[in-house]
Amino acid sequence: MIPIANPWIDSEEVCEVQRVLESGMLAQGAVVTQFERDFADYCGVEHAIATNSGTAALHAALLAAGIGAGDEVIVPSFTFFATASAVSMCGARPVFADIDADTFNISPDAIADRITPRTKAVIGVHLFGQPFDIAPVQELCADHDLVLIEDCAQAHGARYKGRKVGGFGKIGCFSFYPTKNMTTGEGGMITTDDAGIAERARRLVNHGQSEKYLHTELGYNYRMTNISAAIGSVQLRKLDRMNDLRRRHARHFSQTISRTDLRLPWCDPQAFHVYHQFVLTVTDEFPMSRDDFGTRLQIKGIGTAVHYPIPVHQQPLYRTAGDGPCCPVAETCAQRVLSIPVHPQITDTDCEYISRTINEVQ
Ligand SMILES: Cc1ncc(COP(=O)(O)O)c(C=O)c1O
Repeated sequence: MIPIANPWIDSEEVCEVQRVLESGMLAQGAVVTQFERDFADYCGVEHAIATNSGTAALHAALLAAGIGAGDEVIVPSFTFFATASAVSMCGARPVFADIDADTFNISPDAIADRITPRTKAVIGVHLFGQPFDIAPVQELCADHDLVLIEDCAQAHGARYKGRKVGGFGKIGCFSFYPTKNMTTGEGGMITTDDAGIAERARRLVNHGQSEKYLHTELGYNYRMTNISAAIGSVQLRKLDRMNDLRRRHARHFSQTISRTDLRLPWCDPQAFHVYHQFVLTVTDEFPMSRDDFGTRLQIKGIGTAVHYPIPVHQQPLYRTAGDGPCCPVAETCAQRVLSIPVHPQITDTDCEYISRTINEVQ
């Protein structure tokens, strides 16, 4: 089976983890500090604060931005659940905006429609490795005094108009879950150019301590370990190489999947897409349902996944009785999308097999 995801771990990560284990300094320490510095430099931002998940990064980022009870935060409906649940964890309300059908990313027009006097922030997600259209969202946020947070969980190294993501909003949040473009096992990172936000986020991820055993506000244990950071430092050095391979595989698929009844990913010319996922969309002309298509590929040894089968506004937690359709594009995409393997560990032969199999399915 060609898996849908497969983290690229080799002897270098093993060596660095062994070094940490032998040092006895397993929890947060100098290895995390170095990883934070390197990650900030990579993204071109002043500050980076490591966390133990992407969800923790989002939660701490929202709290550091002052989001709390009574506030509304606009989020895309087509994303992983944590983009919205982090808002709820602050006691605020996620307000769902629809997406652009070509990029699967949040639509600036939909954001504009959702702004109310209670709106305090917007979380834009760079979904599947492609930056959302940041400029109009920055403009909306500036006009309405809203905090822009980038959810970069799927877009390490992606660029918009030539600049890496993570520094366009007030805060950027990354995930290092094993399926992501780079991993630390579990982990996350907050990026920002704002010294005040950085200081507060650092406090929040460490029990609200301003100094050892002095707790000035409610915080959490969201710290990354030295073990995770050792993996992350090696992965960061490999990131551009891994992203180049993802892009190479995506180019291959775009050139060789020849069916007109499947829609291939559309790449915004302003974006440097890092293909966290390569997402096909079945059209009305496709001879079977999306689910049957996925099953056929799996029978042929090709791992597939659906990102995401239920738009977040329709999740049981957020669906309120009597609500009509609120994000029709997200709802349609949820029924039609299928991800195929694009990760760095697949070979050229795998790519050829995947394209050939897809072209022959009927
Ligand atoms: C868009 C998005 N946001 C947030 C998260 C949450 O990250 P984590 O799983 O590291 O908590 C993920 C990861 O799955 C994600 O894909």
